[in-house]
Amino acid sequence: MRVLSGIQPTGRPHWGNFFGAIRQYIDLQEENDGFYFIADLHALTTVRDPARLRGYVIDAALDLLALGLDPAKATMFVQSHVPEVSELNWILLSGAPMGLLERCHAYKEKKAKGLVADAGLFTYPVLMSADILAYDSQIVPVGEDQVQHIEVCRDLAGRFNHSFGETFVLPKAKTLENGAKVPGTDGQKMSKSYDNTLPLFCDDKLDTVKKISKQIMRITTDSRAMEDAKDPEGDHLYDLYRLFASDAEVEAMAAMYRRGGFGYGEVKKAIAEASEAYFGPAREKRADLEKNLDYVHEALRAGAERARTVAAEVLSRAQTACGLR
Ligand code: TYM
Repeated sequence: MRVLSGIQPTGRPHWGNFFGAIRQYIDLQEENDGFYFIADLHALTTVRDPARLRGYVIDAALDLLALGLDPAKATMFVQSHVPEVSELNWILLSGAPMGLLERCHAYKEKKAKGLVADAGLFTYPVLMSADILAYDSQIVPVGEDQVQHIEVCRDLAGRFNHSFGETFVLPKAKTLENGAKVPGTDGQKMSKSYDNTLPLFCDDKLDTVKKISKQIMRITTDSRAMEDAKDPEGDHLYDLYRLFASDAEVEAMAAMYRRGGFGYGEVKKAIAEASEAYFGPAREKRADLEKNLDYVHEALRAGAERARTVAAEVLSRAQTACGLR
């Protein structure tokens, strides 16, 4: 199966990115033909500083490699290194209904906040569709917030196929039951734009463990008394713990909630310990990779070369279908 997904280089990745999406990339690279890219064209809608953008792209590659993406098993590349995608973007834009894009939540939310949205943000789901269709992708592993965009992609691909004959493969989104919508420190969806994220890596490696435990301790909780029992369902601390723990540990935590007689501090401590055990090895691996940037650049170069071969073939098929050749 051709599996494809992308992540924006807009800052440090957080637990939501990992448990919703990156974890799936790593699992799926074993048995599938995985294409994973760093969406720098999409990031241009928010990052307007060239040095920062360049830095974020390399950071994202380091993050993915440290977390277990293997360039020998999957194709890892930078979105803009495959210019065929931008050409396909125009083909898809011509024919994308305004109403369809107006309903997309990234644009709607920004407008609702009274912020000025640019055309890049408005047409963001079309570029995403080009990303997906350019590689004949069948499965797109993502968090819940991207599912709507994959529906847009299916819609646009279906319209094109209807007008010009079978050209594009219709993809399917793949989300995980435990991880599709990871809560942030305030209980809302974890998101860089809500300033409620728990990062996987920090800039200062020595401080990472301390910094992250501090952030964990700041997770909001209700004013339940220590002795009171509590239903674990819908509690965001419990949901965060579930991401790391084994079935038996989750069951034990749920029983503790139902029994009562515990403090939220205990749960936070358990989360801090579990997250450290879980991400500690990736942090060490990242520090090693940072000393070997040539390897990272070479992986991105080889990935782009492979990705371009596939995208050129699909672009040519689309151009022929609609009369551009
Ligand atoms: P981005 O960079 O915002 O997020 C990367 C991935 O992380 C997932 N995610 C979450 N999952 C669970 N809980 C959360 N709180 C959470 N926050 C983020 C996202 O769903 C995503 O899978 N538009 C995309 C990048 C992109 C793309 C594509 C993805 C560009 N082209 C083509 C798939 C296919 C984005 O902004 O992801």
